[in-house]
Amino acid sequence: MTANPEILSTPSSQAARTTQSQALFARAQAVTPGGVNSPVRAFRSVGGTPRFIARANGAILTDADGNDYIDHIGSWGPMILGHNLPAVREAVIEALAGGTSFGAPGEREVLLGEAVTRITGVDRVRFVNSGTEATMSALRLARGFTGRKYILKFRGNYHGHADGLLVEAGSGLMTDAVADGGQLNRQGLGQAAPSSAGVPEEYAALTLVSEYNDPAALDALMTARGHEIAAVIFEPVVGNAGVLIPNPEFLDALHRVQAAGVLLIADEVMTGFRLSLRGATGLLGLRPDLTCWGKIIGGGLPVGAYGGRAEVMNFVSPQGPVYQAGTLSGNPLAMAAGLAMLGALEADPGVYERLNTYTAQLAEGLKAGASAAGVPISVNQIGSMLTAFHSSAPHGSIRTYTDAARSDTAAFAGWFQGMLARGIYWAPSQFESIFVSAAHTDAHLNATLEAAAQAYAALTVRGEQ
Ligand SMILES: Cc1ncc(COP(=O)(O)O)c(C=O)c1O
Repeated sequence: MTANPEILSTPSSQAARTTQSQALFARAQAVTPGGVNSPVRAFRSVGGTPRFIARANGAILTDADGNDYIDHIGSWGPMILGHNLPAVREAVIEALAGGTSFGAPGEREVLLGEAVTRITGVDRVRFVNSGTEATMSALRLARGFTGRKYILKFRGNYHGHADGLLVEAGSGLMTDAVADGGQLNRQGLGQAAPSSAGVPEEYAALTLVSEYNDPAALDALMTARGHEIAAVIFEPVVGNAGVLIPNPEFLDALHRVQAAGVLLIADEVMTGFRLSLRGATGLLGLRPDLTCWGKIIGGGLPVGAYGGRAEVMNFVSPQGPVYQAGTLSGNPLAMAAGLAMLGALEADPGVYERLNTYTAQLAEGLKAGASAAGVPISVNQIGSMLTAFHSSAPHGSIRTYTDAARSDTAAFAGWFQGMLARGIYWAPSQFESIFVSAAHTDAHLNATLEAAAQAYAALTVRGEQ
């Protein structure tokens, strides 16, 4: 079903329509911690009941009560061409007829491997089942290849939930940390406490932390500890502290990391195939030693991947000594979906420019709506990723975790609820990117901007939220 944004509901009618979501949320909480299978979905930082989604098509999500929303999350990135893409659906149905899992290699894995190496320029790729598995495996590989123990990451970057990466992590952890007063415990040069209970300090001690977009801090840490560091892992454009765009000086410092013999691992789980066919690193002129993918590479099915130079990748088992395995890795349905998705993207070379134009218009419209209402926001946008921070910092000037963490999260929560009530599904945290898809039309843009302007105006009227 394609919804007409002109007929999206008004706030008063929406309020009465959450019954099924509320009932499902109550049942879910009885069987699943917090009622969700991934924390940010629970709406904790914005309040209210998460919408339980029954189906999705194009740019529209339909909840269990039959309400339509213009979706700006796109399943947190994979749906770059819109939900329920016919090419992906048909490929999955075709694969399904041949069985759902073999536990043995198949042709689709070869085809997707060939597509990924050809498009991205890596020599070798290994498929896994999630972004978390990709980054976790890439780090083990980096340690195995270099024989070094330490890794370095940046504050507010999120790389999935492997133990050693839950240190000053972004995404849901940043949302919680800022809500708790942002008291992150630093313990000495580059050292930091775990962001999650259950991560032993001994594990966290092997993860050094530096500030994103601070080349001097990175250089200092490299001078002091570079000889012990196996890899620097980073989001080439950050989505998980809200959108943060790297400074040229920071990119130079990343080049110096590589020149010093430390492996550079680009986490392109969010940005891969989204900011360009060659991801953010393709746009930024970086040539990482290893790259991690997820989301789009699986066309909406559970897939992750890591790849890089043959010399490094050949360390992976069974060719090399670094063990990594997966019962469902290379799953035929997931491979079929990924192949269809990459095929559709390659067949439409103008898609990235259209996504960028749409998202830039969205950014300008949000700025205008907020400014008319006297609400300070600071917009970061690149390609089809955007965050509107509730902050009086000039547009584009939010560059670090610390800058982002100063945002007014209460104002964001009020605006988020105003958007939801007007049928606009936005990321339910100030510290996330939104994701635009090629299924978003001018009608969706106009409806979104009208709702945004009203929601900004409502923020300044006491009691209206
Ligand atoms: C940059 C980045 N890396 C890794 C991950 C983890 O991926 P997954 O949720 O598939 O485990 C995410 C998830 O959002 C991510 O944004």
